[in-house]
Amino acid sequence: MAPTFPVPFRAFRQKIADPANHGPKHFSCSRSPYMLNKIDPLISSPNMLLTTIILVSTIGFFILLKNFIFVLKWIFVILLRPSKDLKRIYGSWALIIGSTDGIGKAFAFKLAEKDSYPEIEIKIFKLDFSEGDVVSRFRVMGRMIEGLDIGVLINNVGVTYPGAMYFHEVDEKIWMNLVRVNVQGTSYVTKVVLKGMVARRRGAIVNMGSGASVVPSHPLYAIYSATKGYVDQLSRSLYVKYKQYGIDVQCQVYIFDF
Ligand SMILES: NC(=O)c1ccc[n+]([C@@H]2O[C@H](COP(=O)([O-])OP(=O)(O)OC[C@H]3O[C@@H](n4cnc5c(N)ncnc54)[C@H](OP(=O)(O)O)[C@@H]3O)[C@@H](O)[C@H]2O)c1
Repeated sequence: MAPTFPVPFRAFRQKIADPANHGPKHFSCSRSPYMLNKIDPLISSPNMLLTTIILVSTIGFFILLKNFIFVLKWIFVILLRPSKDLKRIYGSWALIIGSTDGIGKAFAFKLAEKDSYPEIEIKIFKLDFSEGDVVSRFRVMGRMIEGLDIGVLINNVGVTYPGAMYFHEVDEKIWMNLVRVNVQGTSYVTKVVLKGMVARRRGAIVNMGSGASVVPSHPLYAIYSATKGYVDQLSRSLYVKYKQYGIDVQCQVYIFDF
């Protein structure tokens, strides 16, 4: 009598029994008598059974251990690891681009917390990334920061659309602004600051990416997510190339939206 299988198995058997199917004839579901005949002697031998159990338990143990170490490491990094002495490791100045509001402002306050307030000195550079001749503006910026031991660069400045939009609806002025601020601005500032960091052989660059560039797609903010994809890849490449000069590069990716 033909064995009774649950529906999926039956469907599978029927498919391979179909003469039109040119798949291997002996390949059947794991409950076939053919497979059982092969497995039975293994399981019935006590030594083999014990070896199998030990092998499977050992593999399971190492998988659990790996995950356990991962969780422990995460707890240490998030909650217990002492913070770095940024000034000593990287240099005495932090340059925060776009520090008047939002995340940049929060960074400014957080960095100021690390030291005692009376010792803090603040220099303000006013620069509009979206207006005028960008190249000459960054030359000016280069002159402004000349001689400053900039240890940390927070490349925070970034803009997006006024609201969700189809790609073809985005006004040219808006997307040119996005490219100027998010792509050109980030790149020029990095270039200007890196020069000094390389000479001092130390520094840290924190670029502001976005969850928009790591999710599978961000359809109604296509240009914004593409510019943030640029920031992400730029950061990865700089990290690899400038590690040898004692410069750390990080891209922070926020998974929430404007
Ligand atoms: N907030 C989020 O949900 C989120 C999520 C993912 C990623 N991000 C990224 O995180 C970064 C900061 O976001 P945020 O929400 O904190 O932004 P925000 O509150 O709008 O602040 C942006 C900062 O950039 C400056 N800025 C804007 N346009 C400028 C321009 N053309 N020239 C010079 N400076 C300019 C602003 O200065 P003014 O005040 O003078 O204009 C402000 O200091 C951005 O790169 C953004 O893409 C944010």
